[in-house]
Amino acid sequence: NMSFSILTNLSLSPCLSKRTDVKKDFDGFQQLFHRFLQEKGPSLDWDCLQRPPVIPYESVRERQLPPDVSDLLNQLVVVKLNGGLGTSMGCKGPKSLISVRSDNTFLDLTLQQIEHLNITYNSDVPLVLMNSFNTDEDTQKILQKYGHCKVKIYTFNQSRFPRINKETLLPIATSVTDDGSDAWYPPGHGDLYDSLMASGLMSKLLAQGKELMFVSNIDNLGATVDLHILQHLLAPPCGERCEFVMEVTNKTRADFVGDKIPKGGMLYDGKLRLLEIAQVPKQHVDDFKSVSKFKIFNTNNLWMSLSAIKRLLESSSVDMEVIVNNKTLEGGLNIIQMETAVGAAMKSFDNALGINVPRSRFLPVKTSSDLLLVMSNLYSMRAGSLTMSERREFLTVPLIKLGSSFTKVQDFLRRFASIPDLLELDHLTVSGDVTFGKDVTPRIPRGHPDSLQAPPAEVLTCIR
Ligand code: UTP
Repeated sequence: NMSFSILTNLSLSPCLSKRTDVKKDFDGFQQLFHRFLQEKGPSLDWDCLQRPPVIPYESVRERQLPPDVSDLLNQLVVVKLNGGLGTSMGCKGPKSLISVRSDNTFLDLTLQQIEHLNITYNSDVPLVLMNSFNTDEDTQKILQKYGHCKVKIYTFNQSRFPRINKETLLPIATSVTDDGSDAWYPPGHGDLYDSLMASGLMSKLLAQGKELMFVSNIDNLGATVDLHILQHLLAPPCGERCEFVMEVTNKTRADFVGDKIPKGGMLYDGKLRLLEIAQVPKQHVDDFKSVSKFKIFNTNNLWMSLSAIKRLLESSSVDMEVIVNNKTLEGGLNIIQMETAVGAAMKSFDNALGINVPRSRFLPVKTSSDLLLVMSNLYSMRAGSLTMSERREFLTVPLIKLGSSFTKVQDFLRRFASIPDLLELDHLTVSGDVTFGKDVTPRIPRGHPDSLQAPPAEVLTCIR
């Protein structure tokens, strides 16, 4: 209650009229905080779970595309989640502005992909960026360079919520003009629905005849517009239209490297739901992590009906679980921030569906190990899209673990005179102060036990 009264006082202070979005932010925060105080942990009845309705991508792909693909494309909007910073890769500023392939940033590649689509099909697919207060200014500056591009670009800002002291449950900001970078946070990508609506962009897009939104993480280089999924949603083969599609994919050994937190799974209890680890009762966490019980996970490539979102928002029916993110700030203060995930709203839509897509649609760049893969000759690039080289004989990508000396992109680049040939690599672990010379092909050292165990794979383990 004290927290609420402080927030209300903050939101009533006269200086706030300067920021028109402050009221919306505080209303949103109050609702989320209220739900956080009320929620009492996992409430799933594990024994009532059924197999979720997931169809294989092949069944979607086998349908022939209509001659007028542009009619479908003209109803589509591509949304990229662009609220995140490049901090985990040692970069300042928006993550989308990191160069990932041939001097192209995530944003460059996204625009090349959509422009190629618009030119090929003579269509008008716009790009919408959901920025945060952390990324908006730098993104706006860069957008000027795409003036010539055949893609309309729209942006809107997600909310700015106050971080809360874990012990006192009070905001650490002392006023809304407190610009301390630690005092505020963007409340997760689930904020998309409210913020898109509040920005007025939703109505604008609907008025332009847009009906479908393809949402994905800007750091997923595999999240390109798929014409077959588009057709499945806008011109369903039979029966009712789905309002929401989540692209899921099978777990592979790459998902078990290091101490990765498992990505959200999917389950069905009458409604199709996203299942994040925080919602799983303790005794079932091992099941959740396993491949045998939970074979698939959410890629965060999501397709949704704009008119359905509007309908759900107007009846306050977009329901997403509160995710509590615990953090320790520099200086040791423990804080919590309440977030939501965009895919969690799946259960609110009618006829939600999972499509099990090939792994190639999930190519996230989260670490410099991922960066090595996408910069290498394992992939070839055409019109902003990366595809696995035909010269790679194995279906899976190599497992790469670069040590902490490679974490920052700048250090990573300094440590490779040129990107090694990875075509035949199976796994590579590097630890310590290692640099790679020009034209390296990692090979199994003669006599190394791995050379006997895993032919024809190649491994280089450099330990100093
Ligand atoms: P993250 O990169 O932070 O999450 O955000 P993650 O855990 O690895 O991936 P998911 O959430 O399980 O899929 C994923 C995307 O969402 C954006 C980031 O910029 C990135 O593109 N994001 C995240 C926002 O736009 N706003 C947020 O508040 C959080």
